[in-house]
Amino acid sequence: MKHARDGLIFPDGFLWGAATSAHQVEGNNINNDWWEAEQSGKVPFQSGKACNQYELFEHDFDLARGMNHNAHRLSIEWSRIEPQEGVWDERAIEHYRRVLLALRRRGMKSFVTLHHFTNPLWFARSGGWENKRAPEYFERYAKIIAERLGEYIDFYITINEPLLLIAMGYWEGIFPPFKRKSFTRVIRIFNNLVDAHNKAFDGIKRKIFNAQIGCAANLVDFQPRQRFDPFDVMASTLARFFWNKLYIKRIIQRSSFIGVNYYFHHHIDAPRFLNSNSFSGHKKSDRGWGIHPEGLYYVLMQIKKYKKPIYITENGLADSKDSQRSFFIIEHLRHLHQAITDGCDVRGYLYWSLIDNFEWEQGFEPRFGLYKVDYKTLHRIARPSSKLYGHICKDNALTSDILKQ
Ligand code: BGC
Repeated sequence: MKHARDGLIFPDGFLWGAATSAHQVEGNNINNDWWEAEQSGKVPFQSGKACNQYELFEHDFDLARGMNHNAHRLSIEWSRIEPQEGVWDERAIEHYRRVLLALRRRGMKSFVTLHHFTNPLWFARSGGWENKRAPEYFERYAKIIAERLGEYIDFYITINEPLLLIAMGYWEGIFPPFKRKSFTRVIRIFNNLVDAHNKAFDGIKRKIFNAQIGCAANLVDFQPRQRFDPFDVMASTLARFFWNKLYIKRIIQRSSFIGVNYYFHHHIDAPRFLNSNSFSGHKKSDRGWGIHPEGLYYVLMQIKKYKKPIYITENGLADSKDSQRSFFIIEHLRHLHQAITDGCDVRGYLYWSLIDNFEWEQGFEPRFGLYKVDYKTLHRIARPSSKLYGHICKDNALTSDILKQ
């Protein structure tokens, strides 16, 4: 790894970009379980037209290219592609073909997520991820995407944050289908999400032999509250195993890379086990999440042993005033660079998010974007941090000027 006199240089070919997901930016995804929950008031906010990226994608990709991004992550909305079981919507397929072509024309690699929290209504009504046929349904959809759009897809991400999906949808009851606290159900769903990934991997590979396929796992930096307390240490080891490693272990044979979403750091206090301390730290985002850039280093070192290429598929913060975003990006990249120096094969970084968007049960208020969205006019307005990030992407480095900031 190069530590040039004038800063920290990233490996040649490093991918730089930002991430989004369909339901959060496209608007009018009327055929999925989130939309239904929004209309019935089960979640407090409505996504409506969101950022209308369904129509404005060319414009948004220009913004990304303007920041020198050479990669971009988006998701395909399953409910648009397969609005009813086994019925494939040609217009939706054509739409995503145009979207992916627009990235290619701008010289940007595509990371395409197949499932980012939302389910088609027919799938949700057939039992969703509890249905034993769920992995089969998912595989069939993945194969259609590979067959019809594979030509334009550089990286497939099967399922976004499977454990968060379980925690929020089947334990806390905050995301659809709003189920709560049943271990047997959680285990069934966990196994289905493992099978769904593995089957999709095989299905896509049968169509496109050299396809690059991975997941996007939400990894948490679990640390003992007291470094020398054996119970805190043991509890942190357990938490790392169950949250960070178990899913990855089950899919690693069928993964070309590991996608890492990094947001959280927890201090584990054994007597209270998950004494959630994600809100700790002197610096916090607008969502109250503590900012712990060094945690990115630790989670990367935990997965180094799998010897797979790693991409940071999400990392970002809600910061409407843009007062911390530049610092946040620089510090996370500094620790990411250190992980590369220490042998982690990290090949890309995708900031969450390109533009402000619909932050699920929190609505539009949390502002994660490099670009602000004015929801009345849908204008995108550059935040100062977008300039800084654009320089980093262009230089493929944290130059000494930037490190001094
Ligand atoms: C999710 C995104 C979300 C972001 C910020 C991630 O867990 O993949 O959809 O917007 O966190 O909360």
